[in-house]
Amino acid sequence: MNLRKTKSALIVIVMLILYRENPLTSAVNFVTSSSEVDEYYPEERDALLKLRDSVSSNSNLHGNWSGPPCINNSSRWAGIACSNGHVVHIALQGIQLAGSLPPAFLHNITLLSKLTLSNNTLSGPLPNLSNLVYLEDVLLSYNYFWGSIPLEYTELPNLRVLELQDNFLDGKIPPFGQPTLRGFNVSYNHLVGPIPQTGVLQKFPISSYSHNSNLCGIPLETPCPLVPPPSPSPAIIAPSPSSNIIPPKNKNNLQVWSVALIATAAALVPFIVIFVFLCYYGKMQTKEAAKGEQAGDGSSGWVEKKMPHLERLGDPEKRVELDFFDKEMPAAFDLDDLLRASAQVLGKGKLGSTYKVALESGLVVIVKRLKNMNELSKKEFTQQMQLLGNMRHENLVQILSFYFSKEEKLVISKFVSGGRTLFQLLHEDRGVGRVALDWATRLSIIKDIAQGLTFLHQSLPSQKVPHANLNSSNVLVIQRRNSQIYDLKLTDFGFLPLLPSRKSSEDLAISKSPEFAQGKKLSQKADVYCFGIILLEVVTGRIPGEVSPGNDETFDDLSDWVRMVVNNDWSTDILDVEILAAKDDHDDMLKLTQIALDCTDMTPEKRPKMVQVLKRIQEINSLKIQEMTYRE
Ligand SMILES: *[C@@H]1O[C@H](CO)[C@@H](O)[C@H](O)[C@H]1NC(C)=O
Ligand SMILES: *[C@@H]1O[C@H](CO)[C@@H](O)[C@H](O)[C@H]1NC(C)=O
Ligand SMILES: *[C@@H]1O[C@H](CO)[C@@H](O)[C@H](O)[C@H]1NC(C)=O
Ligand SMILES: *[C@@H]1O[C@H](CO)[C@@H](O)[C@H](O)[C@H]1NC(C)=O
Ligand SMILES: *[C@@H]1O[C@H](CO)[C@@H](O)[C@H](O)[C@H]1NC(C)=O
Ligand SMILES: *[C@@H]1O[C@H](CO)[C@@H](O)[C@H](O)[C@H]1NC(C)=O
Ligand SMILES: *[C@@H]1O[C@H](CO)[C@@H](O)[C@H](O)[C@H]1NC(C)=O
Repeated sequence: MNLRKTKSALIVIVMLILYRENPLTSAVNFVTSSSEVDEYYPEERDALLKLRDSVSSNSNLHGNWSGPPCINNSSRWAGIACSNGHVVHIALQGIQLAGSLPPAFLHNITLLSKLTLSNNTLSGPLPNLSNLVYLEDVLLSYNYFWGSIPLEYTELPNLRVLELQDNFLDGKIPPFGQPTLRGFNVSYNHLVGPIPQTGVLQKFPISSYSHNSNLCGIPLETPCPLVPPPSPSPAIIAPSPSSNIIPPKNKNNLQVWSVALIATAAALVPFIVIFVFLCYYGKMQTKEAAKGEQAGDGSSGWVEKKMPHLERLGDPEKRVELDFFDKEMPAAFDLDDLLRASAQVLGKGKLGSTYKVALESGLVVIVKRLKNMNELSKKEFTQQMQLLGNMRHENLVQILSFYFSKEEKLVISKFVSGGRTLFQLLHEDRGVGRVALDWATRLSIIKDIAQGLTFLHQSLPSQKVPHANLNSSNVLVIQRRNSQIYDLKLTDFGFLPLLPSRKSSEDLAISKSPEFAQGKKLSQKADVYCFGIILLEVVTGRIPGEVSPGNDETFDDLSDWVRMVVNNDWSTDILDVEILAAKDDHDDMLKLTQIALDCTDMTPEKRPKMVQVLKRIQEINSLKIQEMTYRE
């Protein structure tokens, strides 16, 4: 088993080395040199990577979709099947794919015969499938696709099965006429108008069409009006026992009226459903985004060519110098170096995407590309970056430089290798084989976070909320080689002044604080609240916002649950099982819990200041003992 691992690691390393030397062709040469036939086609790989990087999912596509997608007739990529080096099947059903599909991404997968994306939460328009003449099965049901069914789908010459049920599609059904079509389902959408009178569409059963807003035609036994009215009128869907095409006429007025009323009510239901869905979906999206950010570790092996879409920034005529804060690193690289370098996506959040960028000089940096800040002036951005860049603290990630243009804002910071986020350390790989995070380590992590945050509060006294985005995903923990000593860095701080409105701050961690929810004034105490939540996460091992197990009630807020348990004197029930065995430390754990509860007080004024919090943490016994053993 070990041997196999070593072998695949070697392959990856060899590929990376080749890739570096000639980023465009080496990867292909590496595989073609051993055979006559191309084992895969780079444009197909590019297309799949576009998909991988546009959606999130619960199966680690990023880690899995690396290396070549096809090796002759087989694939090591989850959900991909190949034939003669070409991708022929994409089957990614039920893996919580979320987001919208990149435009036209399938065009270059010309031999695709089967596309399965059903049972996910994909949104946006249906994929463009023109060109794909070999496509037989298109299974896109149980998603959140909206818009109309593209007319191009009727031109797929080999289409065999089209499943679009359970989406939010609207518009009319285009006239599918392919004699190859065996399976067809568009039920549970918002389609309207007549079912086209093509032989093939007329032969599918009622369940292929049912539960739409306003479809009519023979298969549904709902006759269509002879002359379609300009706008779909509710009266059309008045049920009629006979299946003739002549609309119900000559009924008395009262009946027509009541039918119309009922029908109007019925027609409104989908809109209400959509509205409720949109509200709910908005929430879901935020959660997904948070998850995406939490997965931000550089664990996948493949190095991307460049930061996507960023190339166009480069002006070949003149080199754009970057200013560096670290005077020991004068002009280490310029914008062109950055654009030419290999980049790897570490995470995508609401604030923007984060990349790990390996420069040709060997230097590795982290680049954050900020989104939605087009109104920001150069002066505002530069001032804030200078404030942040000139700070130095061992528990803050060092900002090295920045770049501003109207369209792009980049923040370049130091890369720390071997780091994992606190979120990953606490919550990932729970179960067999997990190395428990012991109490001493947890306490030292807490102390370091408190130190970093206290420093931020003291260095930026004029800023409303100096960090503003403190959560366990924005805490990097780096274990020193062969030792129990950890270094810790806070990331993603200082963005609040860059955001145009309070609305846009909803994506920051401080939006979870009661004062934010109530629309009240924000202060440093919002950071203190976020710190308290991290404390609770470390003590309980639970993810904030998740349902508390063993409890019928659900608490939106971890602190509510902890407060309830502590008030009922079951205090040790809250402790993470991984630290429960350390009985001698229970006192300290409960002291820390008390600090956390003080920090998460509903009233900002009642929460302690960070300096006071830090002092109380430093006074905790086991920390003193632990630090003494470190010094020995
Ligand atoms: C791929 O197919 C070619 C041609 O049939 C063959 O020479 C080569 O060894 C195959 N490669 C692998 C990895 O199976
Ligand atoms: C298809 O591949 C070609 C050649 O690699 C590339 O130029 C083109 O942009 C690709 N098309 C799409 C839609 O990705
Ligand atoms: C991807 O996952 C599949 C199982 O789903 C596994 O067989 C394959 O080896 C993985 N490929 C890589 C490159 O990790
Ligand atoms: C791949 O499979 C196809 C059809 O099954 C076959 O004709 C072809 O020779 C196979 N190619 C390789 C390289 O094994
Ligand atoms: C859909 O996917 C979920 C996992 O995401 C799975 O539990 C469920 O059984 C799937 N449902 C269907 C109908 O395939
Ligand atoms: C789909 O792609 C084709 C080819 O690029 C293009 O002509 C067509 O307009 C696209 N259709 C839609 C609906 O965007
Ligand atoms: C169409 O999909 C719906 C919803 O999943 C299902 O109940 C119905 O049986 C399907 N009909 C056909 C003909 O596949």
